[in-house]
Amino acid sequence: MLRQIECVSAWELEGTWKGARKSSGHSLHALCSRTGSFPPALARFFIERYSGPGSVVLDPFSGKGTAPLEACLAGRVGVGNDLAPEAYVLTRAKVRPVSLEEVIGWVKRNRSFIESYRGTDAPEEVQVFYSRSTLRQLLAVRELLSEPETDVEYFVTAVMLGILHGSSSDSLSVKCSHSFSMSPKYVEKAVRVSGLRRPERNVADCILRRAERVLADRLPPVKGIAFEGDARSLPIPPESVDLIVTSPPYFNMQTYAWDNWLRLWFLGHEYKEVARRLFHTDSVSRFLSFAEEFLTEFNRVLRPGGSCFLVLGVVRLRGETVNMAELLLNVVDRTGFEPVRVITDEIPKEKKYLMYLGTDQGVNREVVLELLKPESVPGRSPRAGRGGLISVVG
Ligand SMILES: C[S@@+](CC[C@H](N)C(=O)[O-])C[C@H]1O[C@@H](n2cnc3c(N)ncnc32)[C@H](O)[C@@H]1O
Repeated sequence: MLRQIECVSAWELEGTWKGARKSSGHSLHALCSRTGSFPPALARFFIERYSGPGSVVLDPFSGKGTAPLEACLAGRVGVGNDLAPEAYVLTRAKVRPVSLEEVIGWVKRNRSFIESYRGTDAPEEVQVFYSRSTLRQLLAVRELLSEPETDVEYFVTAVMLGILHGSSSDSLSVKCSHSFSMSPKYVEKAVRVSGLRRPERNVADCILRRAERVLADRLPPVKGIAFEGDARSLPIPPESVDLIVTSPPYFNMQTYAWDNWLRLWFLGHEYKEVARRLFHTDSVSRFLSFAEEFLTEFNRVLRPGGSCFLVLGVVRLRGETVNMAELLLNVVDRTGFEPVRVITDEIPKEKKYLMYLGTDQGVNREVVLELLKPESVPGRSPRAGRGGLISVVG
């Protein structure tokens, strides 16, 4: 049974993020492109209106780290979590960025190792993307960063994920998509048939050039925190978060592990194994149980009176149109949240990010579901001390 709640258009909200220029974001957002991300201006809209300076803002499905970075830029403590290893690396690099001097120092210390490396041991599907000399240097960097520990090691790892494939002058691969790892069969055929060249790159120089670009703007005033884990069991103390802005997986609309298979190889993971762990389904009932579990967890970590914004979609699933916001209203009551309103966010056809989808397929429209954790719930124990998250893991 559906309850009636307020529904507003995103275009009518005062100071709306709709129509914001894509290029107006901080240079760090350009670290690495990844499918399924939301615009920085959307995250900033909710962060500025529903939290204050110093607040803790959480995105439990942080992807490439858009919301946590926007939170840190706005003077909040941005906290990100994602189960995908490459998403964790990108989120961590964005909430704990380093200065260009630190990247220059890392490159200086490792340049001769990278340039003199002789190893060539890479799977055939990886070799398809690179010239021999680029691949050798790439393997050297992979070895150096196999177990990153420091902020600069994580940052350089994230820079590598951003230049691993693409079509700019600092991309290491044959010209191909930047946002997702293309199929090796397709790339191999493109090289054979259309004579695409595998560029000869100096990997150390490419790292420096990309770092210079993404570190062009001032670093955020606040550092944040990143976790790699399941959104249903966050390593976060109860009631220590002031605001949640997030976007869960849309059923099976994105194949995150496959879309990032080359980046996952670079990080030492097998994409099939990662795919088994990430949530992915075309079943409405499985999605609803997943949603009930993650919302219950969000409710646990959120302070009473805190808001939770879920960026969802109106999707086509097995020939049916499913409004994910309406669907989630079926379980919200069991999670401790109160539904507040639905913000509809029509995507003009020409701006559809998922260009390869037909008009009757995939994600047709974005909808944002606003939830509130009520101030006091009868029978509930009093609220825990604030700042727990920062004092425990900060
Ligand atoms: C819609 S995307 C979020 C994108 C993000 N808002 C951004 O701007 O990049 C959903 C994310 O959920 C992650 N994911 C899938 N299953 C998960 C789980 N059980 N726990 C945590 N993250 C998960 C995926 O890796 C993906 O990054």
